Amino acid sequence: MAGDAGGRALPPRHGVIARVLHWLTVLALLSQYLVGYAMIGAEGLLEPVVEELYDGDEDLLLPVHVVIGCSILALTVLRFAWRRVVTLPAWPATVTRAEQKLASTTERALYALLVLTPSSGLALVLISGEDWEIADRADWTAPLDLVDDDLLVGVHVTLQILLLVAVALHLGFVLKHQFVDRDRFLRRMV
Ligand code: HEM
Ligand code: HEM
Repeated sequence: MAGDAGGRALPPRHGVIARVLHWLTVLALLSQYLVGYAMIGAEGLLEPVVEELYDGDEDLLLPVHVVIGCSILALTVLRFAWRRVVTLPAWPATVTRAEQKLASTTERALYALLVLTPSSGLALVLISGEDWEIADRADWTAPLDLVDDDLLVGVHVTLQILLLVAVALHLGFVLKHQFVDRDRFLRRMV
């Protein structure tokens, strides 16, 4: 194991591919919430972009939302497959048995929600029979009308919120270790 200048062992970390996929997912997810909330009128940071590129019509953001959402799904499948191939870094001694369980459960929930949330979005645009304006004078209509669109919107929104809760638990865990236990936990992923 590598050592720092003082000869103290550095904690092990995830491999470069896992780290790149992790931070790409974080970036994509952040953009996805910004775009998602902009689509329902809460423009926030994206207001000047919507004004400039879409003439203030936030409905036209849907194609961007679909592309980012499908990228999150692809990144997640790739990450999960990669994680099964490589050996994960051992937990530092500062992570108790109970905390290891908590971290693993949170990570499993994150993976599940990173698949279920985009899948519910895909269901909305494919099987709800609903239509959306996606460009000036162009609409997208879901090709199948199998499930009530209100129900699917409810599922999509519930999953987004659960995903935010799981991310908050994950962040709390990482920050507790980094700043309370001071075990340089963040280094596992940077
Ligand atoms: C992790 C991935 C995703 C996240 C975090 C996300 C997040 C959001 C958010 C925050 C909104 C606004 C929700 C609201 O009404 O309160 C939204 C709406 C929407 N999302 Fe997603 N989304 C994701 C993936 C997708 C994908 C892959 C699709 C389609 C292929 C999609 C389709 C939609 C649609 C159609 C709406 C508008 C629903 C309506 O008509 O009210 N989403 N999403
Ligand atoms: C915002 C969405 C985030 C998601 C979905 C997410 C997801 C994950 C997942 C699934 C893992 C397990 C390792 C893997 O399979 O690659 C992980 C590990 C890790 N994440 Fe995040 N993460 C997010 C944000 C963050 C942020 C903002 C930080 C830093 C402040 C962070 C720091 C870490 C660290 C240090 C690890 C290593 C812990 C371990 O080995 O289990 N993550 N993350």
